[in-house]
Amino acid sequence: MSDKAPGKHELDSIEIASRDEISALQLEQLKWTLGHVYKNVRHYRDAFNKAGVHPDDLRQLSDLAKFPFATKDDLRRSYPFDMFAVPREHVVRVHASSGTTGKPTVVGYTKRDIDTWAGLMARCIRAAGGRAGDIVHVAYGYGLFTGGLGAHYGAEKLGCTVIPMSGGQTARQVQLIQDFKPDIIMVTPSYMLAIADEFDHQGINPRESSLRIGLHGAEPWTNAMRAEIEGRFDMDAVDLYGLSEILGPGVSSECIETKDGLHIWEDHFYPEIIDPVTGEVVEDGEQGELVFTSLTKEAFPIVRYRTRDLTRLLPGTARSMRRMEKITGRSDDMLIIRGVNLFPSQIEELILRDGHLSPHYVLEVYRRDRLDALDVVVESRPDLKPYDEHTKRACAAKLSQDIKAYIGVTAGVRVVDVNTIERSIGKAQRIVDLRPKL
Ligand code: DLL
Repeated sequence: MSDKAPGKHELDSIEIASRDEISALQLEQLKWTLGHVYKNVRHYRDAFNKAGVHPDDLRQLSDLAKFPFATKDDLRRSYPFDMFAVPREHVVRVHASSGTTGKPTVVGYTKRDIDTWAGLMARCIRAAGGRAGDIVHVAYGYGLFTGGLGAHYGAEKLGCTVIPMSGGQTARQVQLIQDFKPDIIMVTPSYMLAIADEFDHQGINPRESSLRIGLHGAEPWTNAMRAEIEGRFDMDAVDLYGLSEILGPGVSSECIETKDGLHIWEDHFYPEIIDPVTGEVVEDGEQGELVFTSLTKEAFPIVRYRTRDLTRLLPGTARSMRRMEKITGRSDDMLIIRGVNLFPSQIEELILRDGHLSPHYVLEVYRRDRLDALDVVVESRPDLKPYDEHTKRACAAKLSQDIKAYIGVTAGVRVVDVNTIERSIGKAQRIVDLRPKL
């Protein structure tokens, strides 16, 4: 399958530049970004002054650690446009987070920012094995969410034919895939599985579809889930990462020839990993919270943004730029069950070891005896008959045992029939919080 990897001549020269060249470019761009925010964004000017730092204090890359972090709360306080660093008339587009908790966060792009984004997304699609002339089915949501339009502009930039399907209307997704015969699909991994189920439901084998590459992201997913998607569709499934505050999709992505973590496009973003408790920068290779500083953004530059995503930095492989390991979870999604930290992805891996269990699952967290407790609710696979209660109970007992053995948590498990758990058409909601609100 790796014959789809682009040849060196197809890459941007910076993708295979030396570390020294990359670092020199980063230092120059960091200086520009710090000056730009200090001059044009009141929040950063105040925050730098309060911390007693000035853009001139950055002489080497590691000096960035002296500068204060930016957080989602800072963005909310600046709602809607106060973090923009250019006059509003130069902002050609805004996107916003869904704002399910509190006010949404708003981000903006100049014309050049949109071009940069399209170029980076084109780079991601090429790294995944896509080429000019391919047909790309975009099933990320269009609208304020960055997924749909981000993928769309990148695919167009690469010279692909784009089908702007957006999320939802699952039966129609299958019909268009059958009729238009796309080579590539861009969609969240959880919705990809809902599309696979719909193929089965319509009596069509997804392996016979035209799809040969999927770029999946916007939510955590495991390598076990990758194997599931690749097995069901007979295609390569690669990881795509990003967040609205930094760009949207296209901050980092996997290469088809290695699938060993996501190369961060370091010519546009400077990554750091910090200890989430102390805020100290940790060495490459150590696990912690990912922090990003943009290097080229005009309308919405961002300095030391705490993503809450947990991962570690690894050296380059298929490209010289550093990789981030597949995200294991967000600190917001971490459950603490009787003192043990746990992420949904750990449960997902164990579920997918059992041939009777499907990747459709939720974690119900509730309170028992004033402590948090956990129930895993997981659907059986369609080949397990609904009346086979005996097998379901055996699978539940085995999963509960595995969770205790591998994660150290006592969890109840309920194996339910196919189509019991609500499907998402975008990001899956894995945690159902039944704890009383304080
Ligand atoms: O989800 C941008 C995106 C769209 C990325 C399409 C990839 C594909 P937000 O809605 O701002 O932006 O959510 C960002 O989603 O901080 C992570 O917690 C999570 N996330 C995004 N990509 C991945 C991934 C888009 N590949 C938040 N693996 C981030 C794990 C991911 N988590």
